[in-house]
Amino acid sequence: MLLPACGPQPQRVEDVPAPQVVNVYSHRHYDVDKKLFADFEQTTGIAVQLIDADDDQLLSRLAAEGANSQADVILTSDAGRLGLCKQAGFLQPVRSPVLDANVPAHLRDVDHNWYGLSMRARVIAYDKNKVDPKEVATYEALTAQRFKGKLLVRSSENTYNQSLVAAMIAHFGREKTLGWCKGIVANMARDPKGGDTDQMLAIGEGLGEVALVNSYYIGKLLTDTTTAKQKARDAMAVSYPVMNGFSGTHVNVSGAGVARHAKNKENAIKLIEFLSSDAAQRVFAEGNMEFPVKPGVAAAPTLQAFGTLVQDSLALAKLGELNVEAMKVMGEAGWK
Ligand SMILES: [Fe+2]
Repeated sequence: MLLPACGPQPQRVEDVPAPQVVNVYSHRHYDVDKKLFADFEQTTGIAVQLIDADDDQLLSRLAAEGANSQADVILTSDAGRLGLCKQAGFLQPVRSPVLDANVPAHLRDVDHNWYGLSMRARVIAYDKNKVDPKEVATYEALTAQRFKGKLLVRSSENTYNQSLVAAMIAHFGREKTLGWCKGIVANMARDPKGGDTDQMLAIGEGLGEVALVNSYYIGKLLTDTTTAKQKARDAMAVSYPVMNGFSGTHVNVSGAGVARHAKNKENAIKLIEFLSSDAAQRVFAEGNMEFPVKPGVAAAPTLQAFGTLVQDSLALAKLGELNVEAMKVMGEAGWK
């Protein structure tokens, strides 16, 4: 005879809640992200699973995976790349009052496909022993005869330069921007090589006097204590240049959107909202020398010491729309 089981019944598999996760495809390359994700896990109990890749690998991976992609959040360090992700259909629109409140309109996609989360300015780093600040007040000044053979800049394959050129096309049109790119090429101290930090190290070695770099790289250089970078630190000063006729410095964002085929959409939105919060914005600022996007959160003191950043108010969605054109113009100018 079968007796009814007594005591607690074993839990059925479907009663055990699945662990909460969010899968992030990222081509940000900063250690601070580990802390941000750990803070998010601690706050929400949602585990972040990270897939790192460089930007082009990420785009081709998303294309190859299609609807089978595991990506819930796509995180990149350039608004132009976010625009390309939108154009390729890798993102989906998300309405979030939190994100609308925390992220200024020009730093997010008009169709709500992506949101800027941390900002950087593309600025002029210069040798303060050789250059007068008045000589580096505009981007156009870099093309002056004064800087022939003195300009250091990375390659045209780099998204930060592509986005600066895209912003110029948006403001001035193709012809004038082509002229500027030709002026940049004519003044190069050497063929482009290395990243932004390498350009500043080259200034320290006396290989040039001016460089186009992202603001956070200067902040990191100045707070670095390694002796190898001492000469560059000793030489370095910073200008927030404007484009002639416009009052602001070119800015770009790291930002994120929810992947088109996200399986954990709610968790994805929670993560992006978290990254726009005061606590996370302070981590971007203090831990990675990025400007917070959220109004009212202060930049790191090292950046504040450079002066007041007045941003170009161009909608960054333009950077993706004009990315292909920017690459063509740079190629035509001979920018390697
Ligand atoms: Fe970078």
